[in-house]
Amino acid sequence: MTEAGCAAWDAVAALAREPGASDIRRLLDADPSRARRFGFRAAGLLLDLSRTSLTDPVLAALLALGQARGVARFRDAMAAGRPVNGTEGRAALHMALRAPAGGFQVGDENASATVHGTLDAMAGFVRGVHGGQILGAGGDRFTDVVNIGIGGSDLGPAMVTRALWRPGMPMRAHYLANVDAHAWEALRPRLDPRRTLVLVASKTFTTQETMTNAQLVRDWLARALGHSAVPGHLAALSTNLKGTAAFGIAPDRVFGFRDWVGGRFSLWSAVGLSIALACGLDAFAGLLAGAREMDDHFLAAPPEANLPMLLAATEVWHVNFCGYGARAVLPYDERLSRFAAHLQQLEMESLGKRVTNAGLPVRHATGPVVFGEPGTNAQHSFLQLIHQGTTPVPVDFVLVARPDHGHPASHRILLANALAQAEALARGRTEAEARAEMARAGLPAAEIDRLAPHRTFPGNRPSTSILLPALTPATLGALVALYEHKVACLGAYWDINPFDQWGVELGKQLAGGILPALEGGATAPDAATAAMIGEIRRLQEG
Ligand code: F6P
Repeated sequence: MTEAGCAAWDAVAALAREPGASDIRRLLDADPSRARRFGFRAAGLLLDLSRTSLTDPVLAALLALGQARGVARFRDAMAAGRPVNGTEGRAALHMALRAPAGGFQVGDENASATVHGTLDAMAGFVRGVHGGQILGAGGDRFTDVVNIGIGGSDLGPAMVTRALWRPGMPMRAHYLANVDAHAWEALRPRLDPRRTLVLVASKTFTTQETMTNAQLVRDWLARALGHSAVPGHLAALSTNLKGTAAFGIAPDRVFGFRDWVGGRFSLWSAVGLSIALACGLDAFAGLLAGAREMDDHFLAAPPEANLPMLLAATEVWHVNFCGYGARAVLPYDERLSRFAAHLQQLEMESLGKRVTNAGLPVRHATGPVVFGEPGTNAQHSFLQLIHQGTTPVPVDFVLVARPDHGHPASHRILLANALAQAEALARGRTEAEARAEMARAGLPAAEIDRLAPHRTFPGNRPSTSILLPALTPATLGALVALYEHKVACLGAYWDINPFDQWGVELGKQLAGGILPALEGGATAPDAATAAMIGEIRRLQEG
């Protein structure tokens, strides 16, 4: 698909049509300074775009396209607290969540003051729990925190806690998301109700999965400790104060945020309380500070040095001009094992849109499929398709220079694998190289002929690499903020609203209609559903 009538778009398209436009191997060989020239730094992170087919003219044209599409204007409107989420009439001010007091305004509201009021309340609560002033109903110290939430009320904090938690940190954190009660049954035996603090995390406080799980866990507390003990073990993270009160959560145990914080951008808000409880207040503050550093960079740096804008420009190149419909995220760090899961929501819920802000069908592709696993595990899973499948899939590698463990040899192997994958994707292996290698190994000529096509790698498969000096709260905060801002830039490039998610509503509504049919009290809405319900009921009854 193209964008008819946009000269800046046509200029990029013309460059994409030039012969050899995607020859990454040639670009790498032709310019030994390419890694330096396509390496960009901010907030302690290095973004390496050298293993893409970007050239100086292509990058300049993509940034000019960004200017024509209003990327910087959109960023500034977002920072000014304007209602950039047009379908819901809301601002998107997650940057205020990590800003110093006094920085951001939404209409008449001093957003930063609101944020700092909540941060202070969270800090007081965390200190009370850690210091033993806030205890379980029986006088026991809390050792475990269970965060009940789903989507943005789960993925961000779960990912961060997995990344930052180390033995000896103040509390253990557990995340209960799926309404499948197997999740609760798997968690329950690991918890002592006397020492368990439960956070119900839901922006709306109406999400079916979260409310169902919250009731299960509340009943468990009541059975174990008695009804009167339950409120002492509960807190809520929500914008819906009526809902939290109706659920029996005391007002001083509710940590709020505003509707200008989107779920998938909310880990910096009260939704991050489990991070502060598990990893400590300093870790949470460091996370916010790192994100803030990336915010400052995003707000001030010119496009040609602006990491989120450069990452967005790269994505536009791949999606719209190279025709790649997916992207893999491979953090070579086990602690980032939920990072891809977080980005899946952040990017696909934001950018999976088919109409423009004005409600017209888009005339170009929008958000790609995002998926990933940590390396090296991914190498033994889906990397085969990325090397030799029929559709190139750009990869984001995330590397960490200094590990937190004392096994340098393991870490060298890990990094060597990441670098080797990036090199193999970019350079591939020509048929001549494959043949020469087999000849060196002494294979007979007929065998070389037979295997050569299978052992040839096309190469020219793009990847970007992000290098962190170490995985700290600050570098993680900067990394996540980098992707958040990339998403906002892409919203502007594609003229779509990255802050709503109407697409998930239909399934929710239909589930509401199907539930009575499963309970036997209503007819299913269509024949296929009715047939499956019949089978399920037959198996349940038999
Ligand atoms: O799946 C849709 C969604 O609204 C996400 O955007 C959100 O993060 C998630 O549900 C949870 O919503 P809530 O925090 O309101 O429970």
